Amino acid sequence: MELDQELGANELFQAQCHIYKHMYHYLESMSLKCAVQLGIPDIIHKHKQPITLRELASDLQVPPTKANCLQRVMRILVHSGFFATNKIHENQEEEGYVLTTSSSLLLKDSPTSLSTNVLAMLDPALVTPWFSVADCFQGNELTPFETYHGMNFWEYGKKNHEFINSLNEAMACDSQLVSLIFKDHKEIFEGVASLVDVGGGTGTLARAIADAYPHMKCTVLDLPQVVADMPETKSLKFVAGDMFQSIPSAEAVLIKSVLHNWSDEDCIKILNRCREAIASTEKEGKMILVEMVINDEKDKSNLAETKLFVDLQMMAICTGRERNKQEWARLFSEAGFSRYKITATCGLNSIIEVYP
Ligand SMILES: C[S@@+](CC[C@H](N)C(=O)[O-])C[C@H]1O[C@@H](n2cnc3c(N)ncnc32)[C@H](O)[C@@H]1O
Repeated sequence: MELDQELGANELFQAQCHIYKHMYHYLESMSLKCAVQLGIPDIIHKHKQPITLRELASDLQVPPTKANCLQRVMRILVHSGFFATNKIHENQEEEGYVLTTSSSLLLKDSPTSLSTNVLAMLDPALVTPWFSVADCFQGNELTPFETYHGMNFWEYGKKNHEFINSLNEAMACDSQLVSLIFKDHKEIFEGVASLVDVGGGTGTLARAIADAYPHMKCTVLDLPQVVADMPETKSLKFVAGDMFQSIPSAEAVLIKSVLHNWSDEDCIKILNRCREAIASTEKEGKMILVEMVINDEKDKSNLAETKLFVDLQMMAICTGRERNKQEWARLFSEAGFSRYKITATCGLNSIIEVYP
């Protein structure tokens, strides 16, 4: 029997729409990147009232022949909730674009801006490996990133300073936003006198913690090329090193968005070094993880899907993955930790406290 007789034309047309939507979905990502590259959120913000298409085009010096293209890019971004339209004056019909909460997070000068993340994650170096994904299921042991670039992600970062600097900047912005979680969970740091942030990048999160808890000695451990020449303070130090080799001792080990870059085998090695770092202090120490926990059953569809996207990104660029509760529990137990608790879940990330 033909499909249209079996299912009915209506159902087939819905399926057609579903396929076309996902076939073209990358255009939404690219339109978002275009808006960030052009600084459209900042232009709207500076305008202080709804901005018309004409005003936006004039600010961007868009040639008149391209004004309709700008309108179409803005239309999809209104559709996807990055911008909204409001009447300029109550009694007039004319409308202009305004920011939504999402585009407010893309203002370049805001401390919690995610504009750098949009540019970094949609950098061709990270997008092009997706053209090699199918190859990686056909007898090729390499990651899509290695297949496409001929070297792994970390080697590529060492050779491409601009690329790695923009990723470090993106991670720093993400950390600035994530540091808000700790404001509501001060109990996590109660009684902690020293802390090491493993793979702490340029130190944004450790700096926020050091500022909030001036009595605490904070250390950031990261690769030499990341922490070279970072400004130190009395309570914030940087150590260049390799987390697979050794981690400076501290009462608490903080680790954010690092384990998801690595395979289970590598995570167990890192977790073993973390356990040794806290074992060498007098107090019973702990690890504070800020990572994603996949929770398909409880998470709302948008949140669940976003975590699955990040998981795929880890699959394509490195050997890592996002993990569910059971997968985390198994890693902790195999690395010799006795118990853990998920203290908070805020947006994409959860805080997991892990004890020896
Ligand atoms: C995804 S970033 C996370 C950065 C930071 N924790 C944050 O969330 O903003 C991963 C970090 O791990 C660092 N890293 C990778 N390999 C490392 C190693 N062998 N030893 C120490 N740090 C490493 C990278 O340089 C990078 O800063």
